[in-house]
Amino acid sequence: MKFFLDTARLSDIKYWTDMGLVDGVTTNPSLIAKEEGTFKDIIRDICSVVDGPVSVEATSTDTDGILAEAREFATWSDNIVVKVPFIKEGVRALPFLRDEDIATNTTLIFSAPQALIAMKAGTNYVSPFVGRLDDIGHNGMEVVADIVTMCTTYGFDAEVIVASIRHPLHVVESARMGADIATIPAGVLDKMFMHPLTDKGLAAFLKDWQSVTQ
Ligand code: E4P
Repeated sequence: MKFFLDTARLSDIKYWTDMGLVDGVTTNPSLIAKEEGTFKDIIRDICSVVDGPVSVEATSTDTDGILAEAREFATWSDNIVVKVPFIKEGVRALPFLRDEDIATNTTLIFSAPQALIAMKAGTNYVSPFVGRLDDIGHNGMEVVADIVTMCTTYGFDAEVIVASIRHPLHVVESARMGADIATIPAGVLDKMFMHPLTDKGLAAFLKDWQSVTQ
């Protein structure tokens, strides 16, 4: 399973990349808005430290505008993936971008039918938002399970990115159901390290070690 980091914060990306845990990065307009600098500089800096795919979101809502943004983003770095919102105008852009070898990540997916349409239209990645579904009382992971089944059953040339992850269990459930990728906020990745028995065990080992003659 691949781990993407769901952030535009370069310091976090460098930290987790150095640990060998980052296979790619996803950004969105809200994450970009939290950082200093121009949009282009932020993305180019991220691409300079990440070998894997870096998702950058188009903000146009018409097909021609999405295509123009995608073609521009693709000139910034070889590893750019263009995030396309799941709207009809966005879906219309997908076959054109596939023909032009510009990779796409269809975002704001909240249902299995939406994912099926995006995969049929040729998206390279499909991003169901589990946390936002859970927030309104739906079961986000059930939607992901359906999408993974559809993707593997029909052999779509697409990968499922579990997005809007809120806690470590979302990552574990994603792995259990065979999702290709989880895009994880740095805070959740940090929580995946935590276990009180690890802390307690280490403290006991270090204490006992003090009585050992060196
Ligand atoms: C990633 O592709 C998404 O934009 C992101 O995971 C959304 O997460 P949020 O629901 O926490 O904003």
